[in-house]
Amino acid sequence: MEAIKFDFNNMMSDFIGEQGIKASELDNPVSKAAFDYFQANRGTEMMGWADLPYNQDGVVEDIIATAKEINKNFENFVVLGIGGSALGPIAVFTALCHFRYNDLPKEKRGLKFFVEDNVDPERMLALLDVIDVEKTCFNVITKSGATSETMSQYLIITDILKKKLGDKFSKNIVATTSETKGNLIKLAKKEGFKTFYIPDGVGGRFSELCPVGLLPAAVLGIDIKAMLEGAKFMDKLCSLDDAHKNPALMAALLSYISMKKGKNISVMMPYADSLKYIADWYCQLWGESLGKAVDKNGKVVNAGQTPVKALGVTDQHSQVQLYTEGPFDKVITIIGVEKFRGDVTIANGAEEFPDVNFLCGHTMSELINTERVATEYALTCSKHMNNTILLPEVNAHTIGQLLMFFQLQTAYCGEMLNIDTFNQPGVEAGKNATYALFNRKGYEAKKQELENAPKKNKAYII
Ligand code: PA5
Repeated sequence: MEAIKFDFNNMMSDFIGEQGIKASELDNPVSKAAFDYFQANRGTEMMGWADLPYNQDGVVEDIIATAKEINKNFENFVVLGIGGSALGPIAVFTALCHFRYNDLPKEKRGLKFFVEDNVDPERMLALLDVIDVEKTCFNVITKSGATSETMSQYLIITDILKKKLGDKFSKNIVATTSETKGNLIKLAKKEGFKTFYIPDGVGGRFSELCPVGLLPAAVLGIDIKAMLEGAKFMDKLCSLDDAHKNPALMAALLSYISMKKGKNISVMMPYADSLKYIADWYCQLWGESLGKAVDKNGKVVNAGQTPVKALGVTDQHSQVQLYTEGPFDKVITIIGVEKFRGDVTIANGAEEFPDVNFLCGHTMSELINTERVATEYALTCSKHMNNTILLPEVNAHTIGQLLMFFQLQTAYCGEMLNIDTFNQPGVEAGKNATYALFNRKGYEAKKQELENAPKKNKAYII
């Protein structure tokens, strides 16, 4: 199996001068310390995700068998979830399924696939316009079993199902949740839903390689064993404490140093439409994991690097002007694909127009990859930090590698920053305010706090 490559030349001062990192700066003890901490603690507490490629043989067989049954009995598969319970399934679906999957004729695809990662009423109504709920399997995914958005989706859907199917409605639902915590597990037991468990040490944004991501992927016919093999392959590639021999550790160290140099923005820019939502998934992983007010000692650090998603070449005509000439506050990570799964030759037809004719006879994959290399060159000439992750091709194995690479990079980098990578107190604050505003029992004090907040008086009335 071919490994993905991480090319960080354009992060270095040899290539971008004083904006870059000197080779000597890579001899930083934080790197080995972060690795040692990770190795000593992997598999424990909130680092259970690191062992997912190794400890799911039984559950994988159950997932594959369940996916077969779902394919036999339904026409649509809908994920109800949000954040870490939605972004991974979307990213993997987009990476590994046909680009117009749901529009393909029935015989060329499996079940139609939807992920409802919001509580926009128009979106819910639109979903209900295009599916027959009786012929739909709903996979409710929530680790906490309490997330308002997901539980609202669940309540709306079960109400419709119950009205149509009576007691049989439970056959249309699969729950993916914590085995011990939250309300969804209680409902699942009461109603008799088929249930998969999210292990305790696996947080939402690190959960794509557990049943959260594996069941939707298996339903879509994706080779989930190959995905896990890819993750294992990357884990093995990252098993040494020397950043020069561990790509994710090197990526983390470069990120850490770049943050110290004031690069507060991390742009993730795949040059492949299939990887567009990998950038979304990455943004949550990077933003929610590293964006922290205090470090492990309680010191205020306001750590983090704002993740931004971009798409090559589309954003060459939108964002790249800023990336090449704007402030030196960013690191641009480009994801390239060496071999696309299909290709199209640019036809002849403009012989008399040399300015167009130069394109003829080349393929679209040549064009997108040439533009990628050209953008890397432009960023480097303008002395902006950039690095490239190159996938030999997009398949289940390389996607497994890529997910594990980013998870390891994030965990190492969080440790270098001495923060808790796996909590999300800032998200909880918003959740609690919502509960208070919805008059949830137990949140009376929070409601009072919100009522006492300064009144807004600075809006224009138009
Ligand atoms: O990464 C996280 O933990 C969060 O983004 C969660 O995935 C998100 O808030 C949804 O939580 P839950 O799975 O408990 O519904």
